[in-house]
Amino acid sequence: NDLVSLLNIISRLHMNNLILTKKILNWYDNNKRILPWRKKCSQKKREYFTLVSEFMLQQTQVTTVIPYFNNFIADIPNLNSLARINEKKLLKHWEGLGYYLRAKNLKKTAKIIVDNYQGKLPSDFEELKKLPGIGDYTANAISAIVFNKPTIPLDGNIERVLKRILNLKSEVKTKKENLHKQKKVFGQTNRSNDYVQALMEIGALICKPKIPHCNKCPITKNCLSYKKKDFKIKPKNKKIINKFYLATLYKNQNQILLIKNDKFKFLKNLLIFPMREITYPDSLLKSKNKLNLKMSNMNMNICIDFVKIKKKPKNGLWIESSKLENYMIPTFTKKIFASVKNNL
Ligand code: ADE
Repeated sequence: NDLVSLLNIISRLHMNNLILTKKILNWYDNNKRILPWRKKCSQKKREYFTLVSEFMLQQTQVTTVIPYFNNFIADIPNLNSLARINEKKLLKHWEGLGYYLRAKNLKKTAKIIVDNYQGKLPSDFEELKKLPGIGDYTANAISAIVFNKPTIPLDGNIERVLKRILNLKSEVKTKKENLHKQKKVFGQTNRSNDYVQALMEIGALICKPKIPHCNKCPITKNCLSYKKKDFKIKPKNKKIINKFYLATLYKNQNQILLIKNDKFKFLKNLLIFPMREITYPDSLLKSKNKLNLKMSNMNMNICIDFVKIKKKPKNGLWIESSKLENYMIPTFTKKIFASVKNNL
């Protein structure tokens, strides 16, 4: 009898899972966004498109990524061309996306695949994770999207869907470790490649952080948060660090001085204004030219000094202020420039 009821429970669980995956995939088939990296294509293209899009999507939203992805693919159409791309051109393509280390790692990864894997993305999870810029999340995403393996990456979207389905709230329950265990609620399907993107899509379009659109959701019957009418997701404790900087705008007629950053951990080797971190924001308080910029977990308070002409430092570059677009200039530097250009 016990065995029969156990089999019954297992069978019901299985049915539930079957139904859940089916509901999600049906919804996806009818509601997915047309995204350039989702186009039907050969396996080789699938590998390349997924690699590029997943790197871009690591820290950036879909709508921002779309035009970057299209330009990138148009100009650098395959893994071979990426492996050989010149760094300046590569970074120009990444200009404005931020987290520029991603671009450098993407190229390194392309080169390793061309040199060591005959141009074929490895399908083995551990091999994937050895590649620069591919961590646990991206390896899971690639395994599913490219190789249709039954893995589920936990990105912000899927994580939120999972927390809502199971109404996971406490610190213990929302730990990454536990979330990975709870992923089994998503069940199994032979369409893993679509399934992970379907879960991401539900997170992005329906199961939104503040107000989920439950009236459009295909899985409210499976959702404990819906049942309890309790949709609150505890925001992650992002530790914001306040920082203070003094930047200097050196000017020589129509030229401004930028330097290649070899000092700060952020924006490594990219063009910034000469600047230094200050401990006490005295000058910041007095300064008229100041602005506040956020980067990763830093809240950056920057005040800007003007100086006419100075000898160019070793890592410096005088740039015609009307010709900034010829250079790869990170948004950070552009914003500082924009805030003062009327005072020049
Ligand atoms: N975020 C990360 N990967 C994605 C994908 N393939 N589609 C939509 N959003 C994503």
